[in-house]
Amino acid sequence: MNCLITGGNRGLGLEWVKQLSGKEKIVFAGCREPKNADKLNKLIPSKNIFELDVANENSIRNVINQLKTRVNRLDLLINNAGIIGNRAGLKKMEIEDHLETFQTNTLGPLFVTKYCLPLLENGSTVVNISSLMGSIDDDTSGGSYSYRISKAALNMVSKNLHQDLNSRGISVVSFHPGWVRTRMGTPVAPVSTKRSVAGMLKVLEEQNNISGKFINFKGEELPW
Ligand SMILES: NC(=O)c1ccc[n+]([C@@H]2O[C@H](COP(=O)([O-])OP(=O)(O)OC[C@H]3O[C@@H](n4cnc5c(N)ncnc54)[C@H](OP(=O)(O)O)[C@@H]3O)[C@@H](O)[C@H]2O)c1
Repeated sequence: MNCLITGGNRGLGLEWVKQLSGKEKIVFAGCREPKNADKLNKLIPSKNIFELDVANENSIRNVINQLKTRVNRLDLLINNAGIIGNRAGLKKMEIEDHLETFQTNTLGPLFVTKYCLPLLENGSTVVNISSLMGSIDDDTSGGSYSYRISKAALNMVSKNLHQDLNSRGISVVSFHPGWVRTRMGTPVAPVSTKRSVAGMLKVLEEQNNISGKFINFKGEELPW
């Protein structure tokens, strides 16, 4: 089983690499600076680590072209790379931050999936790592405009990809990983990367009919 994880050098992405390679899967990972990705280099062979900036279409195209020379099929694509944006409220938000956050969190997963299409087949799964902060229904506190908008739009990416790809047997799901102890989640977050990724993997392994859904790492369906 071949897997590709974006943003595999730290946080949740690194944990995906760790747990999937522990399950004897063939794991490929993208990250912006492979030479500085010491932890990632200890987990998988360096030839399986690609220099990938998901906010750059040429970078995506180059990496997937390299991947195509290595595998004929991709079973699991984890669109994990993401940024929090500047968390600015209404008065201080800036267009540049919105554009960067949207490009990374929304268009990144969409275009990585687009270039992976020739490798996706019946039984393949695309996982978009979204966030409860992208839930329109759950927004009770405001703020964080660029992040919230980018993840709400990512949820639309997931649902739309599901509509387009499900007839080919390709599943697409949006996951909320929980509030997780990473650089983004901060040290006060209640959930470890280990528990979050183990939970999402369990859902992928055990739950049927998750395509087109927004679910958390415990397998509970969330409101859009
Ligand atoms: N932690 C949480 O509580 C939480 C909650 C909900 C959702 N999420 C989502 O979970 C995913 C992973 O977040 P995390 O908590 O693991 O955050 P993190 O520790 O900050 O890691 C983010 C990862 O994304 C990579 N990245 C950012 N921009 C990139 C780009 N343009 N191209 C390639 N890689 C890029 C980073 O690479 P560099 O090292 O090069 O910066 C890093 O590997 C994100 O999509 C995030 O929105 C996290």
